[in-house]
Amino acid sequence: MTQIKVHYQQALSLINTSEIGLFDSETKLHRQKLYEGTGAGSDFLGWIDLPDNTGSGLLERIEDDASIIREESDAVVVIGIGGSYLGARAVIEALSGPLHAAPGPEVLYAGHHLDEEYHHDLLSYLENKEYSVIVISKSGTTTEPAVAFRLIRRQLEEKYGQQKAARRIFAITDARRGALKQLATEQGYASYVIPDDVGGRYSVLTPVGLLPVAAAGVDIRGLLSGARDMAAHLREHHDVFENPAALYAVLRNLLYKKGRTTEILASYTPSLFFFTEWWKQLFGESEGKQGKGIFPAGVSFTTDLHSMGQFIQEGTKNSFETVLTLKKNRKTLTIPEDKDNLDGLNYLTGKRLGFVNEMAARGTMLAHVDGHVPNLEIELPELNAYHLGSLIYFFEMACALSGYMLGVNPFDQPGVEAYKRNMFALLGKPGFEEEAAKLRQRLNS
Ligand code: PA5
Repeated sequence: MTQIKVHYQQALSLINTSEIGLFDSETKLHRQKLYEGTGAGSDFLGWIDLPDNTGSGLLERIEDDASIIREESDAVVVIGIGGSYLGARAVIEALSGPLHAAPGPEVLYAGHHLDEEYHHDLLSYLENKEYSVIVISKSGTTTEPAVAFRLIRRQLEEKYGQQKAARRIFAITDARRGALKQLATEQGYASYVIPDDVGGRYSVLTPVGLLPVAAAGVDIRGLLSGARDMAAHLREHHDVFENPAALYAVLRNLLYKKGRTTEILASYTPSLFFFTEWWKQLFGESEGKQGKGIFPAGVSFTTDLHSMGQFIQEGTKNSFETVLTLKKNRKTLTIPEDKDNLDGLNYLTGKRLGFVNEMAARGTMLAHVDGHVPNLEIELPELNAYHLGSLIYFFEMACALSGYMLGVNPFDQPGVEAYKRNMFALLGKPGFEEEAAKLRQRLNS
C-alpha cells in the first residue's frame, strides 16, 4: 500500500469520477507500452527499473566517495544544468532543512546559468575553502557546465596542483562519448556513468543525483528504498483508482481538456522550492512539444499568497493547482502566550505553527476552488528520504503516462537545441558562420 495519496475532491466542480473511470483502458495501454518498451522514446526507459537495478557495489562506491568529500572538504561544488542539476538540488534542499544546518560540506552550485558575477563571486568564495567538485553532464558538451568547469578546474589546479586537484574532481557523464568523458579519462578523475537509457530529467536516482546527495549527507539507500516500493506498487496496480501515478496523469489530462492549460504546483514548506523546480523541468521538458502541453508553474505558499495569490484567485481561469501536503512535520513549534496580547494572537496560544500553516492551506484551497480554480492534492506522510524517493518515482511515472496521454514523446527535448544553435552562432563557434550572419542582421534590423 503506497503512502502517497492523490485527492481530487476539490476538482469535482470541473471533472467527475465517472470520467476518470473512462480512462482506465487507456492508462492500461500506456502502462503496457512503458513496461514493454513499445511506445515513443522507448530507448529511454532505464529509469523504470533503476531502483531495483542499482546494485550495492555502486552504492558502496558512491558512499565511499561521499565520505572522502565530506572528510576533505568544507564545500562541494556541484556543476550541472537541467536534469544534471535539479534533482540533486531538489533532494538536498528538501532534506537538509531550510537553513541547511546539517553537518557536512556546504553544497554550492555552478554551471546552471552563465551569470558572470555569480561565477566570479563563487570563485572568490572558494579561494579560502577546502573544496571538491562534482561535475555532471551526460552529453559532456553542454556549454554552461563546461564553461563553469573550465573556470573552477583552473582555480582548483592552481590551489592544489594538478594531481591533487584531480583527486578532488568527480565526473558523472556518458560511458563513452563527450568532452567530459575524455577529460575524465585523461586526467584520471573518479568517474560515474549515466546509463544510456536514462535521460537527464529522469536521472536523479542515478549517480547524477546520488553522489551529490550522499556528499550532502542524505541517506541514499532510504531514497532508493522509497522509490523501489513506489515502483512495485505502481507496477502491481492496474486500476486507475488504485494507481496514484495513473490517477494523477488522468486528472491533469482531464483538466487540460477542459481548458486548464497551466498547472500550479503549490507547497507550504520552503524546503520544497527546488523540488518544485525539478517537477517543472520534468513535466515542462517532457510534455511541452508539438504545440501541446500543460504549462508547469510553481508557487511557495503562504509566501506567494501575497504575490501570486491575487492572480490565482481572480485572474484568468486557465489553471488548476496541485497542492503538495505533508501529513506530519519534522519539527514542532508551539505559539506561546503573551500576557499583553498586543498582537491579538492569544487565540493561537498553545497551537502548533504547523497547525496554523495547515489551516492556511485548507482555507486557501477552498478559496481558490470558490474562485473557480480546481485543486488536486498530493499527500505525503512526511518529508524524509524514503517518502521523497517514492514521490520522485511517482512523478516520473505520472509524467511518462501523462505524456503518452497527450500524444507526445515524453523522453526527448528537440526544442532545447534552437537557442543553442543561435548562441553558438553569435559566439562565433566554428561551423555556424552562415547562421551568425543572418542572426546579426535580424538583431540589427
Ligand atoms: O533533461 C534533460 O535531458 C536536459 O535537461 C539535460 O539534463 C540538460 O540539458 C543537461 O544536459 P547534459 O547533462 O548533457 O549536460
